[in-house]
Amino acid sequence: MQLRIPGPTPCPPQALQAMGQQMMNHRGGEFAEILRATTEKLKQVFQTKGDVFVLTASGTGGMEAAIVNTLSPGDRVLSVSNGFFGERFADIVKAYGAEAVPLYFEWGKPVDPDAIARALKADGNIKAVLVTHNETSTGMTNNLGEISTVVKKFDKLLLVDAISSLGCINLPVDDWRCDVVVTASQKGWMVPPGLAMVSMSEKAWQAHAHSKMPRCYWDFTLAKNYLQKGQTPWTPAVSVCYALNTTLDLMLSEGLDNIFARHAHVARKTRDGVKALGLSLFPDENYASDTITAVDASDRIDVSKLIRLLREEHQVIIAGGQDKLSGKIFRIGHLGSVYDDDIESVLEALDRVLPQVRKG
Ligand SMILES: Cc1ncc(COP(=O)(O)O)c(C=O)c1O
Repeated sequence: MQLRIPGPTPCPPQALQAMGQQMMNHRGGEFAEILRATTEKLKQVFQTKGDVFVLTASGTGGMEAAIVNTLSPGDRVLSVSNGFFGERFADIVKAYGAEAVPLYFEWGKPVDPDAIARALKADGNIKAVLVTHNETSTGMTNNLGEISTVVKKFDKLLLVDAISSLGCINLPVDDWRCDVVVTASQKGWMVPPGLAMVSMSEKAWQAHAHSKMPRCYWDFTLAKNYLQKGQTPWTPAVSVCYALNTTLDLMLSEGLDNIFARHAHVARKTRDGVKALGLSLFPDENYASDTITAVDASDRIDVSKLIRLLREEHQVIIAGGQDKLSGKIFRIGHLGSVYDDDIESVLEALDRVLPQVRKG
């Protein structure tokens, strides 16, 4: 099977082998070594000198941790969104009693940094800005560098969902002054679901000191204290930690620039291939993601039949659209362990199946 959804992504054999190891004492020296090494390697990929925590959670847990560790009930938060996952960030803020001030853009259209500047100028009480770096639901990447310049001009806290970009698309956390950045193991990291990784800047720690949101499982003061002992406060997903420690070695030996270039190359090949089949991209192509290609199916393609035939007849698994894009787009994931051959076989399968799924 060719798993080409936007995550979970295929695990390389080294990761699968690492997970086959026997359990160890998560409060013992051997695991402490693994956690320390993993954290140091993660800092290299995050391009940060700040703290990075490995949480046993899915990505959404990491988003919740970002919020409860820096904000207080009643805080006004600019919630910038142009897709399904941007709205999820806002939902978490609201669930914890903060006030989400929405700055929403059409799905598939880029976030406009000038609009953020206008919103921050108009409302001096906004404390933080939430942004999705790579909107998995629409296959597009927002210009986080420019967004950060604006947010920092107003000296606001910047919380970033980089779940489907970090480790695949350049995101220099310190250079772009991102205060809290969240990613998750089942994406570009090439390991199974189970871990969220979250960075904290100095400014985020200052916010943490005053933040009053209720927290227990997610408390980063606890996480920091335990990390000094080479532990996590709660029992971690030990096997996924083994795997992540291993894939981080693979990633660092490939080199960050090479990883970014490979993703850019594979993404371009996917987009060119899809267009050569007479299809159009869903998002503004200038912002098309290097990790997910979203294809416009409009009313011309039966998406559920396409997905079924690709799986049953060609062993290729792709994703449909989420929420209001259900039936309107389909998405090809190309993040993590992905090379030319993988994309070629997806495109070949698409070519075969398309005549059977065109409507009208
Ligand atoms: C951009 C983005 N944010 C958040 C999430 C949610 O992550 P999880 O399903 O691991 O909770 C995802 C998962 O696809 C994502 O791609």
